[in-house]
Amino acid sequence: MDYTTLEKIVRDHEKPSRFEHSLGVVEVSEVLARRFRLNVELARMAAIFHDFNRYMDGQSLLSFCLDHKIPVEEEEKAAPMLLHGAVAAWYFPVVTGIKDERVVRAIRHHTLASPEMGALGAVIYVADYSEKGRRHLDDNDRLAIWGHGSLEEMVLDVIAREEAYSAAVDRPLAAVTVRCRDFLKEGGRLAR
Ligand SMILES: [Fe+2]
Ligand SMILES: [Fe+2]
Repeated sequence: MDYTTLEKIVRDHEKPSRFEHSLGVVEVSEVLARRFRLNVELARMAAIFHDFNRYMDGQSLLSFCLDHKIPVEEEEKAAPMLLHGAVAAWYFPVVTGIKDERVVRAIRHHTLASPEMGALGAVIYVADYSEKGRRHLDDNDRLAIWGHGSLEEMVLDVIAREEAYSAAVDRPLAAVTVRCRDFLKEGGRLAR
């Protein structure tokens, strides 16, 4: 399957506002993938599909993960809507016929980030946070995030913003997000 076919499937599945967001994520992902020499077609496919399971309710997402032996973080158990990424990652190879571990990890970890998300995961994570439809950022914020010289620095910037937000609403960062932050701060590189 190619990107265009997958985009049609997602268009028929998502509400217009969600589909717009997904297209926004594709747009940023494509630019980042080109810039950092990743597979552009896979980046676009991961991006268009990343929120495919956003319409399942939290309990169904959690049951799906338990039934399919998908590892679940404590924070995801507490807020199972976060698991829409885990479930979409499971569906991607089923829907597209493409079995690529980089895409699976990228979609899996787009909500909380992870040291395991890979460079493609960084692309989707940063694009999801910064696409043009996101009203919590202005153009200066976007340029600050995209201006970093590496995907690792961009992820650190987004995590720092998530951390500030978490502190403001008095909710700690998820452990997996902290692990990702510390891994990158210590100079860790995401798998290419
Ligand atoms: Fe999402
Ligand atoms: Fe999203």
